[in-house]
Amino acid sequence: MHRLALALFVAFLLPFTLVLSAPSQSTSSLLALGPTDENTVPATFIGSYGDHEYALNGTVEQVLAQLKELHPEVELKKREVTSRAVLNKEMPPLCIPIRGWNWATAYMPDIQAGVVYLDNLNTRINIGPTSCSRISCSWNGAIYLCNDNPYSIQPASPYLASYAQDLINICTTGSDDHYPDYKRTGGQEFDTDGYNIIVREDSC
Ligand SMILES: *[C@@H]1O[C@H](CO)[C@@H](O)[C@H](O)[C@H]1NC(C)=O
Repeated sequence: MHRLALALFVAFLLPFTLVLSAPSQSTSSLLALGPTDENTVPATFIGSYGDHEYALNGTVEQVLAQLKELHPEVELKKREVTSRAVLNKEMPPLCIPIRGWNWATAYMPDIQAGVVYLDNLNTRINIGPTSCSRISCSWNGAIYLCNDNPYSIQPASPYLASYAQDLINICTTGSDDHYPDYKRTGGQEFDTDGYNIIVREDSC
């Protein structure tokens, strides 16, 4: 009896609440995670650096610093930052301000630097089920990866970098030279495989 009542409740009210709360956003963003203190864990970067296999936690900046210290002889080849196929991107992304989140925009050149690091390191990034990781942070500009799936995923860092690049291309406001309106950027872009990339201000 109780179960029936609950089923009826869900059957009648759930579609109703979905409709009410989804006037302008895609269905995946309704369910999507954003980083909170509770769900944010370190990402694990998995790859090879020169001939050295590694699995290291942290942001791309921290991981790269560790690799340089461990293997000072290795010189990372500069990769051409090429535009990548759209693959599973949900376009357009959301630009800050984003309803439900008090995210602030980051200084755009700091995010661009993170994109170059993620692209050059050319690694896999492991993130656990239903959690978020800060995969890049410098000068208070952060790139987060959030995994909505109930299992771990290991997307490639250049692919994740291309999401942050989309946000730079689509969400940047301000100018290069008019103080204080320097270029700032931030937003959230979704992959149909149940994860998303967030660019925003953060402290680091
Ligand atoms: C790296 O991060 C993972 C996932 O958050 C965690 O389980 C693991 O203990 C961490 N490893 C180290 C060496 O901190």
